[in-house]
Amino acid sequence: MRLIRRGAEAEIYESTMFGKKVIVKRRIPKGYRIEELDRRIRAERTRAEARVLHRAKQAGVRAPYIYDIDMQEMAITMECLDLPRVKDVVDDMPSDEKERIAEMIGKAVASLHSKGLVHGDLTTSNMLIDGDRIALIDFGLAEITKEKERMASDLRVLKEGWRSAHYRDEDLVERIFSAYSESWDGGFDVLRMLEKAEGRRRYVKKG
Ligand SMILES: Nc1ncnc2c1ncn2[C@@H]1O[C@H](COP(=O)(O)OP(=O)(O)O)[C@@H](O)[C@H]1O
Ligand SMILES: [Mg+2]
Repeated sequence: MRLIRRGAEAEIYESTMFGKKVIVKRRIPKGYRIEELDRRIRAERTRAEARVLHRAKQAGVRAPYIYDIDMQEMAITMECLDLPRVKDVVDDMPSDEKERIAEMIGKAVASLHSKGLVHGDLTTSNMLIDGDRIALIDFGLAEITKEKERMASDLRVLKEGWRSAHYRDEDLVERIFSAYSESWDGGFDVLRMLEKAEGRRRYVKKG
């Protein structure tokens, strides 16, 4: 196994299984947490990630296949998607290509939400470009829910993350959202809810 990334929560390894390249995502203990609580949090996130990944695959969303779950190591072995991350490539694309990516993102999130799945961390480092589709990874904060409020908060993370990572293309958020609402019936409601939540927040700030 070869360590390829060390994130705040997990170590990502590249390995092989029956000659196929795989990714092993292992949630590492956090020293500052009480041990028992830490184990519980890591177990919950590992389980949630595997569960929602599986559901997302069933729903036809592009995401890695799971090959193994190890609840001792808190590790998930999954398909390696050898694809560029939106985060790393979108800024240098010509504008029509950027718009195409924005639409693909809106569609991918819509297909997740329409199946009652919320990602929880929709930043562009968790989105990979697979031809004409976006593949989603990193389901550690994901939830299975039909609550539109949760979906609105998914979109808020997406919007805020996009604005800070890709501030030169802030306007593309609109493009993402219009593709989102065109792709499923409930999308419009979710966007209205997001707007309302933001209105409340603005109101709170002023006060
Ligand atoms: N299945 C996968 N295929 C290809 N690359 C992956 C895969 N899973 C993770 N990665 C790479 O590792 C990085 C971190 O993994 P991620 O699941 O997002 O963990 P973190 O919680 O640390 O953000 C991703 O941004 C991506 O570059
Ligand atoms: Mg990530």
